[in-house]
Amino acid sequence: MIAVDGPAGTGKSSVSRGLARALSARYLNTGAMYRIVTLAVLRAGVDPDDAAAVAELASEVDLAVGFDPDEDLYFLGGEDVSVEIRGEAVTMAVSAVSAVPEVRTRLVDRQRELADGSVAVVVEGRDIGTVVLPDADVKVFLTASAEERARRRNDQNVESGLVDDYDAVLADVQRRDHLDSTRAVSPLRAADDAVVVDSSDMSQSETVARLLDLVEQRAGASR
Ligand code: DC
Repeated sequence: MIAVDGPAGTGKSSVSRGLARALSARYLNTGAMYRIVTLAVLRAGVDPDDAAAVAELASEVDLAVGFDPDEDLYFLGGEDVSVEIRGEAVTMAVSAVSAVPEVRTRLVDRQRELADGSVAVVVEGRDIGTVVLPDADVKVFLTASAEERARRRNDQNVESGLVDDYDAVLADVQRRDHLDSTRAVSPLRAADDAVVVDSSDMSQSETVARLLDLVEQRAGASR
């Protein structure tokens, strides 16, 4: 079990997928699970800041996720919502929904069932090494400066035809960092035994190679 945690915009998803591919392992994106619950909240017309209502709804959400690093398969009530969970509305509301303790308890239980250790899996999120899988074999905390993360995200936006607005993207990165690292339940932090990898000056393939080295070192140490 390999845990990859870190803030938004570090290239964590691409790197985790690349690592899973290289290891022929499963890939579990836990952020997508919080996004599916958030979409359910928005569709039900529930206020994302109404923690009690969000908690109640979360106990009934029917979600399913795929494990293939090459295919996004995320379902809400049997409907493929892979594109919708990446939209602006979900992105704006997901920090509030993921701060609700009942939502976290439910999803953490699901994540532990999905990553039961019987097959190799790369699990990506914010609290995988600290809370979900404290016994993970390898723990990585992937980070990069806020400016570099904002630059990468803004470049992606421009590529996909959205407005070029670095300052707004930087403000959003800082807003989400603040919410994620100051929330009462499972704030974003590196596990004591995680290896911190700063990808500010590394390409995606260099970062995957660095993580593969860590996995190999760990495998060598346990042989
Ligand atoms: O990785 P992402 O941007 O898709 O994550 C969406 C949100 O979910 C983000 O605000 C942090 C939260 N999240 C979390 O609280 N715990 C996780 N294990 C994964 C994501």
